[in-house]
Amino acid sequence: MKLFVLNGPNLNMLGIREPAHYGKESFSDLCEKIKKHAEALGIEVELFQSNHEGALVDKIHEAYFCGADGIVINPGAYTHTSIALLDAVKAVSIPTVEVHISDVNSREDFRKQSYIRAACIATISGHGTDGYTEAMTLLCETAKGADGK
Ligand code: DQA
Repeated sequence: MKLFVLNGPNLNMLGIREPAHYGKESFSDLCEKIKKHAEALGIEVELFQSNHEGALVDKIHEAYFCGADGIVINPGAYTHTSIALLDAVKAVSIPTVEVHISDVNSREDFRKQSYIRAACIATISGHGTDGYTEAMTLLCETAKGADGK
């Protein structure tokens, strides 16, 4: 089982960026947490972060061509603007979970709109960085259910 964990713009600034919304944990702390959780689940994980929309689209396609079983994605602000990311997830038909560190529904109105959500099996929002590990667990359980194991 292999998961891709993708992060969009400004998530490389975790720990520095608006700690009241995103906490004090750094991006490298987050990456370590994800790697440890993958180890505990006994799965492979590939981590990717980009500040560029097209690079995220390319990575979603790569997930397809390398046979990934699931995608965890925090698209950052592209959540609220990007039809290209929605179309990419639809194109690959890989079970995908949308994650937000902050609770996007209790912030500005423009954050309530998510284009990618329509192509995702679930959204986890407002659980801090635990949302990523919860999404990974959910994708593993979904894959096991699909295998009938
Ligand atoms: C975010 C929420 C988005 O609205 C924002 O643009 C981000 C981070 C979150 O993780 O809470 O960059 O996706």
